[in-house]
Amino acid sequence: MSDKHHEEAHTGPIKNPKQLLITVLLAFILPVILIIGLVTFVGSAPKTGAGVGMQELAQAQRLQKVGSVEIRDANRPLRGGEDVYKGQCAACHATGVSGAPKFGAAGDWGPRLAQGFDALVHSALKGKGAMAPQGGGDFNDLEIARGVAFMANAGGANFPEPQPAAQEGDAAAK
Ligand code: HEC
Repeated sequence: MSDKHHEEAHTGPIKNPKQLLITVLLAFILPVILIIGLVTFVGSAPKTGAGVGMQELAQAQRLQKVGSVEIRDANRPLRGGEDVYKGQCAACHATGVSGAPKFGAAGDWGPRLAQGFDALVHSALKGKGAMAPQGGGDFNDLEIARGVAFMANAGGANFPEPQPAAQEGDAAAK
């Protein structure tokens, strides 16, 4: 008698096998439905949020080849010394900004010319003092050398305009 009473007190709301079955099923199915709901919500959020443009971009990125290569035309005509000078070097060398040897001023260039052409080109390529490498430009090394020759010649030197080596390959490769 007291045993039966005891049992009843602990059976709770589940009174028969059918209720038990439903409870168990719900206990499994509800979390699954919840998870599926969450996953579809999270998965769809960016698409609905950012629109079609993002999708196209993402697709393009997936189709893109691995790594991208900046193509510089190695066969483009090289710029001449004067061209390079006017485009890049004149900014400082025309007036002699921050101690730059002034264009056409033999007095400025004389001592520098004594270093020899290669040393001058090296300075122009790597930078010197207030001058950034390539004078801050983005040139083929040979173009820089031509710029140096152009300026140095105006300052009293007589360097021939550097020409591309026939076999040595692209001077820009270095
Ligand atoms: C931002 C200003 C600036 C620009 C642009 C610039 N230079 Fe210079 N350059 C200088 C200065 C300053 C010096 C003196 C550096 C020193 O001796 O400390 C100098 C020195 C030089 C020298 C002498 C180097 C030596 O060893 O004595 C050469 C050659 C030269 N420049 C070439 C060029 C060429 C070629 C360009 C263009 C492609 C160029 N520079 C653009 C500022 C500039």
